[in-house]
Amino acid sequence: MMPALEENVSLRPYNTFGLDVRARYFARFASADELRQLLQLPAVRAADKLILGGGSNLLFTQDFAGVVLKNEIRGLHIVSEDGDSATALVRAGAGESWHGLVEYALDQGLSGIENLSLIPGTVGAAPLQNIGAYGAELRDTFDHLEAVAIATGESRVFTAGECGFGYRESVFKNVLKDQFVVTAVVLRLHRPVRPAGYAPNVRYGALAETLAELGIAGEPTPQDVSRAVVHIRRAKLPDPAEVGNAGSFFKNPELSQAKFDHLKSQYPDLPGYPVPGGVKVPAAWLIERAGWKGLRRGPGAGTHGVHDRQALVLVHHGGATGGELRQLAEEIISSVRQQFAVELHPEVNIL
Ligand code: FAD
Ligand code: EPU
Repeated sequence: MMPALEENVSLRPYNTFGLDVRARYFARFASADELRQLLQLPAVRAADKLILGGGSNLLFTQDFAGVVLKNEIRGLHIVSEDGDSATALVRAGAGESWHGLVEYALDQGLSGIENLSLIPGTVGAAPLQNIGAYGAELRDTFDHLEAVAIATGESRVFTAGECGFGYRESVFKNVLKDQFVVTAVVLRLHRPVRPAGYAPNVRYGALAETLAELGIAGEPTPQDVSRAVVHIRRAKLPDPAEVGNAGSFFKNPELSQAKFDHLKSQYPDLPGYPVPGGVKVPAAWLIERAGWKGLRRGPGAGTHGVHDRQALVLVHHGGATGGELRQLAEEIISSVRQQFAVELHPEVNIL
């Protein structure tokens, strides 16, 4: 059946900042074929297109004058198992919730994505910025994805190598931006078997500490790691159901060793993590030091500002516009540039 094309639709329920903007046209698709049918409609062909997942990495600063195509492709299953390597290929429809996939994997006794528990949004958006948290990234378990070309409707498979994954980066954010719709993602997960068993990834400091705090001693299971990640995330990050936000608003900047050493001599408590070619520093630390943490702006108790437990997260308390949030982001960028001579770049997609 041909999916309906609605007009003048509020996007408020579809973005985790909770901004009240409208889309000129709006349609949902539940399969690659439905998507192709939509892409052939003259009104859709002529318009700017926004592929929408859970809207958890978007800042709308104005109404969207084109067509919003909301991905609702479902389906989770194990495609194949390899007993020798103790791995399983799991295929997920791009409209499935990411955390739903994590829970499915845990229920199936599979490990590999438990560190990425509770990241909001859909499976299909996960490759766009190679989602990452608590010492893991999508690319660690990624096998391939299936996509549809927006211009021609043709299907195409992308292997990990073809996706160009980096820190919050992929080809779909740069050279192939707005050219493909991800329709399914296939991950290679592990089925821990004796004697090798499960090797938890607890490199991220806070994770080992939280496991100890939760009384999980000895060998944690994938479920234990997931519980610890969920525990940390609930303590630090605002729940979009309660206060509008899109997670980290900026990427953590990567500095040259010389630049880092120079800053460290001025600010001895500046944290830094070695990465190839330099040192990554927490943008949250720079923003907090520049005095922004916990800021509230706007009438009454404030309509928007900077989260009081995580300075990297911009928040919308209600009543602000996307333009006001963008203005705040610009002021933060300029104050961090002035104080530290470090350039911050948004992680959130600003429209
Ligand atoms: P959307 O916001 O709907 O879309 C994001 C971008 O991807 C848009 O440009 C959109 O056009 C494009 N897109 C979406 N789906 C498709 C598709 N099927 N095909 C092609 N393009 C598509 N991110 C992390 O990496 N790590 C974290 O720890 C993390 N924590 C967060 C915590 C909170 C509280 C919040 C609100 C966000 C957090 N994020 C985090 C950001 C966000 O969850 C991820 O970027 C997520 O992958 C976005 O998914 P989405 O479906 O909501 O994408
Ligand atoms: N810090 C501060 N002030 C704060 C918060 C943090 O100074 O208000 C400093 C502390 O030194 C802390 C360090 O920043 O040790 C790191 O903080 P945290 O562990 O909270 O992680 P982050 O670097 O701020 C990144 C990701 C998150 C991801 C977490 C956990 C980016 C842009 N953000 O945040 O991803 O969940 O690590 O791995 O890389 C997202 O992308 O939306 C997101 C939430």
